[in-house]
Amino acid sequence: MGKLKDTFNPFPTTKYIDPRYFCDRETELEMLKSAYKNDRPITIFSMRRMGKTGLIKHFQTHLNSSKKNLCIYVDMFSTNSDEEFVEKLVNASILALNNNKKGFLSEIIEVFGNYKPKFTLDPLTGAPGLELDIRNKSDVKMSLAALFTLLGSQKKRIHLAIDEFQQIANYENSTNIPSTIREYMQDTKNIRFLFSGSQRHLLLELFNNPKQPLFRMVDQLILEEIDSKKYKEFIISQFDKANRVIQPEVVEDLLNWARSHTFYVQVICNKLFSLPKKIIENTDLKQIKYSIKKELEMNFIAYKNLLSKNQYKTLKGIAKENIVKSVRTKYFTNKYNLAASTANQSLKYLVDAEIVYEQNTKKGREYKVYDVFFYRWLQEEG
Ligand SMILES: Nc1ncnc2c1ncn2[C@@H]1O[C@H](COP(=O)(O)OP(=O)(O)OP(=O)(O)O)[C@@H](O)[C@H]1O
Ligand SMILES: [Mg+2]
Repeated sequence: MGKLKDTFNPFPTTKYIDPRYFCDRETELEMLKSAYKNDRPITIFSMRRMGKTGLIKHFQTHLNSSKKNLCIYVDMFSTNSDEEFVEKLVNASILALNNNKKGFLSEIIEVFGNYKPKFTLDPLTGAPGLELDIRNKSDVKMSLAALFTLLGSQKKRIHLAIDEFQQIANYENSTNIPSTIREYMQDTKNIRFLFSGSQRHLLLELFNNPKQPLFRMVDQLILEEIDSKKYKEFIISQFDKANRVIQPEVVEDLLNWARSHTFYVQVICNKLFSLPKKIIENTDLKQIKYSIKKELEMNFIAYKNLLSKNQYKTLKGIAKENIVKSVRTKYFTNKYNLAASTANQSLKYLVDAEIVYEQNTKKGREYKVYDVFFYRWLQEEG
């Protein structure tokens, strides 16, 4: 076998790189373009790790090809209060504006002068940041007003993507970020909003509860699995571009094993690609599946120890069945040796803890183990 070139791995598992490494999502991209063009706010919702952030970055990469647009991306995952929300939003905006217009930082002082702005530089990336002295709810409201006035005065069309937006529902003593955003949604002409998140009940509450300020104000895009035919072609072509071969039946097997769930597919493909082999065969996939399960086993055992016996039995039953509509049926309770009420209580716990995923389909509710690798470990080893 000839020596393989030290090729860049085309299967990123933690970040978006560029359109060459991004599979499909054509329909979703069209929805995002339409919402943007016609000035409708939009929310992307999916299970965790289905590809929301990747899709947002992919869309913003597309928008960035025109000088008329300016993209802001902010991830609220680590925020715990209104104050942190504002600080993150201000920082992301400043970063985007500063990249756009050099020497912009001095203008900021004027806008945020009341909040004793302190400039910071990220020691790793060198990115400029701003520390604001935001002490109370009125500061939150006023500094958001300052930010939106600043954004509203820009000549460009601004795409503002707020990822993990559901986090605001977890803040303690929260005031009213949604109602403030609603005001600016209505008052500013050049800002297009995109929200994204994965905790369905929190996100749905923000947009589908009539008592909430953002009720029915946004389009909703539910991100599902990438079509397996398209993913298969994509994976084969990535290997082909590196002058390598992955057998089609290996790709089918891996997509099925990973339930076509984007992140898990990417991890398996990344690992297969990293093997120093020209032709990837079934035995390689078998080896990778085994090593993934072993690598994560201690985490899975720790999970197991946190659960009660009945919760674990219920969980394992769901894994063995792949998908279940109910855990109260005679079939399920007999097979896994559970009382119907116990199984149901356990299910409720597992759903709340996001170990089991509850999805609404046209045929009713369905349950499956949320984490794909845990699911396969439970089925095959646990
Ligand atoms: N269409 C795609 N083609 C190829 N890779 C993708 C695609 N979508 C996402 N990915 C990659 O899969 C990984 C996980 O996706 P991403 O982080 O976008 O998911 P997420 O839904 O935002 O996850 P989380 O819920 O954890 O925030 C990333 O490395 C991302 O680049
Ligand atoms: Mg994400």
